[in-house]
Amino acid sequence: MAYETLEVRTEAEKVGIITLNRPKQLNALNDQLMTELGAALQAFDADEKIGCTIITGSEKAFAAGADIGAMAKYSFVDAYKGDYITRNWESIRSIRKPVIAAVSGFALGGGCELAMMCDFIIAADNAKFGQPEIKLGVIPGAGGTQRLPRAVGKSKAMDMALTGRMMDATEAERAGLVSRVVPLDKLMDEALGAALQISGFSQIAVMAAKESVNRAFEGGLSDGVMFERRLFHALFATQDQKEGMDAFVNKRPATFTHQ
Ligand code: CAA
Repeated sequence: MAYETLEVRTEAEKVGIITLNRPKQLNALNDQLMTELGAALQAFDADEKIGCTIITGSEKAFAAGADIGAMAKYSFVDAYKGDYITRNWESIRSIRKPVIAAVSGFALGGGCELAMMCDFIIAADNAKFGQPEIKLGVIPGAGGTQRLPRAVGKSKAMDMALTGRMMDATEAERAGLVSRVVPLDKLMDEALGAALQISGFSQIAVMAAKESVNRAFEGGLSDGVMFERRLFHALFATQDQKEGMDAFVNKRPATFTHQ
């Protein structure tokens, strides 16, 4: 499929790489981009060979938010009844294989929310995160008020949402929003390294790990622990479990067949 707002490629036939590509608007997220992003993610998710996908932007901007120009004139009726702004954003949550956000530059508003919808964030040292919607007379509309406090705690999330200030990469790592910070010129190497590593593991175990961690993020502790235990037990029905444990016991590398 040809995309107008994305560049899409694969690496080593194992990793999907999606680059947001509306440079003049600092990758502002309009309806077309989010529709294309959903389609590209679903295509990689359905591809047996792909084990992990990376979403990235440009050096200056991962994404500077939802497209303010497109929304400026919307009425409540357009936003609510037409559901024009974020209607197709949650499709990312249906992706079952891991998605890494490789963030450089601005990740603001919907850009920060998009990064938080990914499974983890690797940031370049020039990354800046923020929820500046308050300055526009609105609030985050794609999960920011829910995912940010879960990631960084109430106090910092309130600070970000109420003042609209930006957090640099160091603060974001300290707060737990991002998993790693690397120099800008190493960002894609680092993200690719992680994605290739993940792609080398059992796809079934990887999907189960993602599903189970998300359960912790979205539900209560005892439900989550029970859910994890059921998935853990279920993995003993896979050939990959036999292979992984036999390889360890016999001190040899494992070769996973995703069965
Ligand atoms: N939507 C549409 N266009 C945007 C945009 C956005 N979110 N962010 C930047 N742009 C455009 C600018 O209008 C500008 O276009 P022109 O060249 O045609 O004027 C171009 O991108 C470059 O931007 P700047 O000249 O402003 O660049 P800068 O380096 O001076 O500033 C910035 C960069 C701090 C990111 C600034 O652009 C900015 O504050 N952008 C808006 C950030 C924002 O408020 N995001 C939240 C949007 S609302 C939202 O996301 C709702 C939600 O939760 C779903």
